[in-house]
Amino acid sequence: MSSTANANPEVIFRLTKDFAFPISAYDDLVNQFISELHEGLNYEQKMPMIPTFVYELPTGEEKGVILSLDLGGTNLRVCRTTLFGGGNFDIIHKKWTISDALKKGPGSELFAWIADRIGEFLASDCHGAVHEDDKKYPLGMTFSFPCEQLDINVGKLLNWTKGFHGKDVIGKDVVKVLQDCIDAKNLPITVNALINDTVGTLLATTYKHPGCEVGIIFGTGTNCAYLEDQSQITKIRPDSANFTSHTGHQVINTEWGAFGNVSGALPSNDYDRYLDSRSSQPGKQLYEKVVSGLYISELARIVLHDLAKHGNLFVEGASGTPKTDAELGDLAIKERFDGAMMGGIEADTSADLQAVGNHFQTMYNLKTSQSDRETIKYVCQLISARAARLSSVGIAALIKKRELLSKPHQVIIGIDGSLFNKYPNFRQHLEGALNEIFDAATVTAKISLINAEDGSGVGGAIAAYLACKALGLQA
Ligand code: BGC
Repeated sequence: MSSTANANPEVIFRLTKDFAFPISAYDDLVNQFISELHEGLNYEQKMPMIPTFVYELPTGEEKGVILSLDLGGTNLRVCRTTLFGGGNFDIIHKKWTISDALKKGPGSELFAWIADRIGEFLASDCHGAVHEDDKKYPLGMTFSFPCEQLDINVGKLLNWTKGFHGKDVIGKDVVKVLQDCIDAKNLPITVNALINDTVGTLLATTYKHPGCEVGIIFGTGTNCAYLEDQSQITKIRPDSANFTSHTGHQVINTEWGAFGNVSGALPSNDYDRYLDSRSSQPGKQLYEKVVSGLYISELARIVLHDLAKHGNLFVEGASGTPKTDAELGDLAIKERFDGAMMGGIEADTSADLQAVGNHFQTMYNLKTSQSDRETIKYVCQLISARAARLSSVGIAALIKKRELLSKPHQVIIGIDGSLFNKYPNFRQHLEGALNEIFDAATVTAKISLINAEDGSGVGGAIAAYLACKALGLQA
């Protein structure tokens, strides 16, 4: 933690207590997590634990050129992946930020917009890969929201997360909704695989690192997919439609963001409860709300706003003078402080924290004292360190549930997402917590956390490839 020598000690003491997550709490939380993983496989409660209809992982020798799209929490990407075999691939993509209007508007408009972007990509980036003939090209759809899968290319949207609202699509098969929009634009595309981004991360990591059985996202949202023995998935009846059991395994999309919804097991303070009550899904995605980028930056904004309203920030010497919302400008508005900014604050290691001061001056027109800047950085550190430590709980639970440490090989875990890839010290805190849960020697010797390279885009392509292979078609 950085220096708080000039900050108000009472404020620092209270915040430290509010966001504490002591080592002694790990074991209970990991055990609770394991029991929610088990329950989700048996009866559909608590954690969704969705069977994905992905029965096998790639060998790394798959070859072909395949299209995919990746609808995440922040961006849409349309990609063309070339799989070379030998674990090598090349990917080109176009990326668009999903506007607030699209996130909050009807789902039909979002999907029509996606089809337009696919058309744009085909026209500009697919010369030579897509020809003007009757052939329809397979496309893997990586969709970062909970869907109940009924087959590899059929998935009903259970609910939106991460601030998306399009109610008209909830309960519908998102592949069909997209395919209808694609057909309406006469694009030569068949969406033949639907996967979650965590499944994409798993497939992409396995392509390069055979033996990987777990894919995780720590980004705008959080989630995990892993390879499970079918005998453990007791909620699937062997006579269920589209069920096959030729491999004895199936990838499960845990939707672990829902951990703690029912059990109330997660640490929670007044700020957490306030954030939850003002979210689009109160009482839902509680693990995601303490772990992922969208929510932890909002949590930091809520804390800073509260400190300022109580005269503990931006007071220029007159400590105790509360700031009004009008004076605080955008800092008083929901989600006007994002993960990139929060990470930027933590990246400022200078003694006078000039970059922190500049952010607040430019973004909110607020002047900061040394005490303010130290407090702001400390708030960000407290919240992101708790998020990283809580992230390790999910990983540890999965490793224990699958008894991965007792297997002879290395435990390879593919991880993607901006928090893990870019956020200062997130990975270090997460690994530090794993060292406390297991022990440092075991973690170093047995567990490899691999930075998944473009998991969602490549993973979507591999899923489309595997779906074609299962049908005896050429990708
Ligand atoms: C969604 C998951 C997704 C995760 C990471 C969550 O909000 O429910 O489906 O995998 O975000 O993108």
